Amino acid sequence: MEAAKREGLDSLDAVTDARALDDWRVTYLGKKSPLTQVSRQMGGLSAEERPVVGGWVNEARAALQEAFDAKHEAVEEAALAARLAAETIDVTLPGRKRPRGAMHPLMQVIEEIEDVFLGMGFTIAEGPEVETDTYNFEMLNIPKDHPARDMQDTFYLTEELLLRTHTSPMQVRTMEQMRPNAPVKVIVPGRVYRRDEDDATHSHAFTQIEGLVVDEGIRMSDLKGILEQFARAIFGPDQAVRLRPSFFPFTEPSAEVDVRCITCGGKGCRVCKDTGWIEILGSGMVHPNVLDAAGYDSKRFSGFAFGMGPERIAMLKYGIDDIRLLYQNDLRLLKQFTRVM
Ligand code: DAH
Repeated sequence: MEAAKREGLDSLDAVTDARALDDWRVTYLGKKSPLTQVSRQMGGLSAEERPVVGGWVNEARAALQEAFDAKHEAVEEAALAARLAAETIDVTLPGRKRPRGAMHPLMQVIEEIEDVFLGMGFTIAEGPEVETDTYNFEMLNIPKDHPARDMQDTFYLTEELLLRTHTSPMQVRTMEQMRPNAPVKVIVPGRVYRRDEDDATHSHAFTQIEGLVVDEGIRMSDLKGILEQFARAIFGPDQAVRLRPSFFPFTEPSAEVDVRCITCGGKGCRVCKDTGWIEILGSGMVHPNVLDAAGYDSKRFSGFAFGMGPERIAMLKYGIDDIRLLYQNDLRLLKQFTRVM
C-alpha cells in the first residue's frame, strides 16, 4: 500500500497537463488501480485484518486524492495562464483604418446646385433619357434643318426615338403636366448624349441641369436675379453675372450667362482669355411657340429657362482641366473630395 502510494505521488511530479493527469487518475485511483484491487479483495480478510487493511487503503487513497486535487488545480491554472498569454491583445497597436467613401465630386456639385434652387422654391423633376424627336426638337421650336437634328450630332435609336441631346425637352413635359395655368418653377438634372468625340472639354455623355419658370408677369430681370443668387451661392458672395445676347431656337430673347472669372477674379488671365468673364450657361425667355405648344397661352404667360453643365461648373470651381477626369474614377482625384456629406 505504501509502495503504491509512493509510486503514485512520485509519478505525479512529472504530470504537467490535463491529459497526463487524467491518465494518472485512471492508473492510481481508477478501477484497475492497486488500491481498488486491494479493496476488492477485502472480503477474503478476517474480521480483525479488515479494519487494519481498510485503514491503509483509505489513508493511501486520501493522500493520492489530495495530491490529485492539488495537481488538478495547478494544471488548470497553468492552462488558463497559457491561454491568456496566447490571446493577449496588444491595445497599443494602431487600429486598421477603414477607407471611407465619399460622394463623387460631380454629384457633390449637382447636389449643391439642387440645394441652391430648392432654397429658392424650385422643385426637382427628372425625365426620360430616351426621348422622342418631337419633345427633343419639334416642340422646342428647333426646325427640321437645324444641325443638331443631324445624324452626325444626335444618337438616333429609330427615326422618332433618340437619346436626348439636352434636358430642355423636360420644359415641354413639365408644362404639359401643369397646363393650362399652374405656375411652374422647376429644375431638371439629368444625363444627355451627343455624338461628340471625347476630349478635354467634350463627352458623348454628360450632365445638364435645366431650369424653367413660367407664370404671369415673369420678366428677364427675374431670370437675372435668380442666376445672380445662384452664382453667388456656388462661386462666392462677391460674384456678378453678365448676360450676353445669344440665340437658342426655344428662347427669345436668348442670353449666354457669364460669371466673373473664378481664376483671376476678373483681372484677365489664360482661363478667361483675358476677358475677365467665364460663360457658365445658356438661358432666355421661353419662346411663345414653346409656351403655346406645351399648353400655356403665350399672350397671358411668360417664362424663363436656363440650361447648365454641372461638369463645367465643377471644373471651374475646382480647377479641373479635363472633363474625362470626372468619369475615370481615379482615386487620386476622388480622394481630394472626401469631405463628409
Ligand atoms: N438646351 C441648351 C443646350 O443644350 C441649353 C439651354 C440654353 C437651355 C438656353 C435652356 C436655355 O433652357 O434657355 O445647349
